[in-house]
Amino acid sequence: MRTQVAIIGAGPAGLMLAHLLQRAGVESVVLEIRSRAYVESRVRAGVLEQGTVDLLNDTGLGDRMRREGLVHEGIELGFEGKRHRIDLKALTGHAVTVYAQHELLKDLIEARLRVGGEIIFEATDVSIHGIDGNSPSVTFSKNGVAQELHCDYIAGCDGFHGICRTSIPDGALTAFERVYPFAWLGILADAAPSQGELVYMNHDRGFALFSMRSPTVTRLYLQCDPADDITNWTDERIWDELLLRFRCDNGWKPNMGPITQKSITPMRSLVTEPMQYGKLFLAGDAVHIVPPTGAKGMNLAIADARVLAQGLVDKFQTGSTGLLDRYSEICLRRIWRVQRFSWWMTSMLHRFPDASPFDRRRQMAELEYLAGSEAAARSLAENYVGLPLELL
Ligand code: FAD
Ligand code: DHB
Repeated sequence: MRTQVAIIGAGPAGLMLAHLLQRAGVESVVLEIRSRAYVESRVRAGVLEQGTVDLLNDTGLGDRMRREGLVHEGIELGFEGKRHRIDLKALTGHAVTVYAQHELLKDLIEARLRVGGEIIFEATDVSIHGIDGNSPSVTFSKNGVAQELHCDYIAGCDGFHGICRTSIPDGALTAFERVYPFAWLGILADAAPSQGELVYMNHDRGFALFSMRSPTVTRLYLQCDPADDITNWTDERIWDELLLRFRCDNGWKPNMGPITQKSITPMRSLVTEPMQYGKLFLAGDAVHIVPPTGAKGMNLAIADARVLAQGLVDKFQTGSTGLLDRYSEICLRRIWRVQRFSWWMTSMLHRFPDASPFDRRRQMAELEYLAGSEAAARSLAENYVGLPLELL
């Protein structure tokens, strides 16, 4: 089997890359370890930056998102029993859209299959070869039959636990990492969202986040110990803790309902540089991770895919590798700005186990500054809706 670009991983980065390449007439094959049903139902991210929304609309993927996505023109920050609105639209002219990652993946898969593009689901034993030469290839098994895919380039879009990053020889990459002393316990509940906008809450007992997926489904997160086990959290304990952390002077609280999904996600910041080795290009969570506060991971994965697609298309259309050679440099400028923002939101809103009274008061002062200063609020807002691509 032969293609121009072998793409490992059918997440947002891999599928968006395949979509953009296909539109420009570049062939690719996507290899995914999981089943289609698994990929289309795995609960992950939910907030799309304006630039991501624009890209979906501009490339023919926006129909269902425009119908079912929820446009949010503001978010709320809560602390000391009060909530303060940050008016994203007034401060930046832009908004964000709440649309579940797995819904976007369904749209991407459907669009790819409609034009006859290939996605090989349940590909096992995926392994990459020859990345430092001129004839890279990928071996894998499908239904127990070993296969080989020859290609010009390999795109490693296989997420944090994938095989692409670790296939690069030791010493070729440098990792910059921070692991946080907490995790997020996330739930989906069959309950109508009790208000229209997200609430990021800093509480003495730890962070909590109110979000949503649809007019009938609420998404909630609460900070917990990274070593904690989900089986320690009964539904009753989760609701007790959430209601405590969201308690406000005006009596607002999330609506309760049956919990349909719950899981614990550890939090880290990671950047691996450079994002390329020979004929292998890494994109998305395969090469960087942000802590989820601020909702940047999926947007960053899609931003990488856009830059990589441009570089590859340029190479196949003109023969020049000028843009492809600058892939890492172009992406890393955005990635580090987004890392800074995600780290800052995380640091401001979570309870650090070793925090001193000084640290706690500094957090409160920062939140009060945001609530009272238009300049401070605008800085948060412009990062939250997404930095413009032309800046970078
Ligand atoms: P992934 O989505 O991880 O996709 C990688 C794919 O590769 C997977 O389908 C995997 O099965 C496949 N794969 C792995 N190994 C192999 C292999 N060996 N062979 C073949 N295939 C392989 N981001 C936001 O922007 N907004 C949010 O609101 C947000 N909230 C989040 C909330 C939570 C609780 C979590 C956990 C994450 C959140 N994120 C958010 C982050 C976002 O989900 C990720 O950044 C995003 O999924 C990254 O996309 P990706 O394509 O790089 O990787
Ligand atoms: C969601 C996730 C986030 O990380 C965030 O900052 C906001 C919303 C969500 O899953 O809805």
